Amino acid sequence: MAEPIRSTLAGSRIGATALADLLGHWSTRGGLAGDSALYRLLALRIARLADTGELSAGLRLPPERELAAALSVSRNTVAAAYQLLRDEGMAESRQGAGTRIVPHRTTPAAVHRANGFFSGLLEASVVEADLSIAAVAGAPQVADALIQPASVMDPYMLRETITSNGYFPYGLPWLRTAIAGHLTRLGLPSTADEVMVTTGGQQALDLLVRGEVLPGQPVAVEDPTFPGVLDALHRSGASVIGIPADDGVDPDRLDHILRTHRPALVYLIPTHDNPTGLVMPADVRHRVTRLAAAYPDTLFVDDMTLAELTLDTALAFGEGPPPPPLAAAGLANLVTVGSLSKVYWGGLRVGWIRGDTGLISRLAAAKATADLGSPAFQQAIVAALLEDQHDAILAWRLDWLRERYSALASALTTYLPEWTWPVPRGGLTIWARLPGHEQDSGAFAQAALRHGVAIVPGRLLSATGGRIRSGDYLRLAFTQPPEVLTSAVTALAQLSSPAIRVAS
Ligand SMILES: Cc1ncc(COP(=O)(O)O)c(C=O)c1O
Repeated sequence: MAEPIRSTLAGSRIGATALADLLGHWSTRGGLAGDSALYRLLALRIARLADTGELSAGLRLPPERELAAALSVSRNTVAAAYQLLRDEGMAESRQGAGTRIVPHRTTPAAVHRANGFFSGLLEASVVEADLSIAAVAGAPQVADALIQPASVMDPYMLRETITSNGYFPYGLPWLRTAIAGHLTRLGLPSTADEVMVTTGGQQALDLLVRGEVLPGQPVAVEDPTFPGVLDALHRSGASVIGIPADDGVDPDRLDHILRTHRPALVYLIPTHDNPTGLVMPADVRHRVTRLAAAYPDTLFVDDMTLAELTLDTALAFGEGPPPPPLAAAGLANLVTVGSLSKVYWGGLRVGWIRGDTGLISRLAAAKATADLGSPAFQQAIVAALLEDQHDAILAWRLDWLRERYSALASALTTYLPEWTWPVPRGGLTIWARLPGHEQDSGAFAQAALRHGVAIVPGRLLSATGGRIRSGDYLRLAFTQPPEVLTSAVTALAQLSSPAIRVAS
């Protein structure tokens, strides 16, 4: 994922780790009936990527040995997969020129080298324990509201929404007002015209990147960061700069990057970072807002998608409620992004951007081109929930979350005592470091997949693809039921010996 688009075009070859990322959950047998030998699964997935144009015609595949190491399989497995591709006319090999995808019908999508993180969602696969996606099941209040909308909404409001033409590129006015009220309660005084509704937080980020960053322009992110933003940045052709951030961004490094690179955008997750779950300390927040004042041409994006998800570890550390968003400092270049996906339900696909009214107008124009607005009916239901039931839903979600966090944390402590991780103050994920003898978390994640556990290798969260850092980390989401989390960790513990890991 971390390889920018241009390198694929120029070099006409794909590296082993980049291909491993594109392969997604290739080794799970769920989607297939019949023969599920590993080499067949591998050949099938590569052939499918060639069919869809994600592996372009003429592209040179990685050497067998390198791909075998990246996938934690034997070299024979890769050799047999390549042979099958050759037998079926999908690939050809020449002495000294390696194995290439043969020319076939292709699409413009072939130029892209992104979506390493989302590939698990894009393909049909069945994983026993999916700890790779930090997504939550819907809260019961949300289920009730969707089943019986009139139980949360005045039927008059519902009818008024349905008798409109239904297209709201800025968002349903009622929901824009409700989100502005919600942000005001979180410490960021806002008005409806500073808010636009998006199809989840992901679209908010994608619109910002496509609208405010030209291809090739630099964008600074924490390293590690939310992998969805990296996919959006790579797909748009931005030049991504990672700021090393073990326990939050280092303001001196950020200052240096602003001075030397003048990025178009700086993306930060100050409250309950994804993946670490940490909170940016007050003095660092202060420095960041001072830097935003000094660089008014750079947009500073505060992603507060996870900001309300406070674990009780925060209380143990003597922390109060989460600090207000950075934009509370009142500068036009401080933008806030948020979503209800993690508190209510991802299937609602309701997120937002809060910013200067000029920015909101530009982005609404871009959203109109993309989808003419998010579904109005869902927006009406969310507006009602946000106004009347938010506290109850949040309280339910925090109980749900804390139970799962403590199951995962105690299983890790019991079964994998050598793994280390910063204690998260909130969020949905643990950022775990493998012990010294386990250097490559990508190969570990591949082996875990074949044992029914999906986890995210650190490089997918790294601007440098894990070359400089994050390569020995894994992200574990605690969104599955507690018993699934416990059995997933016991399965991971059995993989601690590399000898039993390499499959053929
Ligand atoms: C920090 C962060 N931002 C944005 C998103 C995307 O949210 P949504 O599901 O609303 O698109 C996520 C989802 O994991 C996230 O963790």
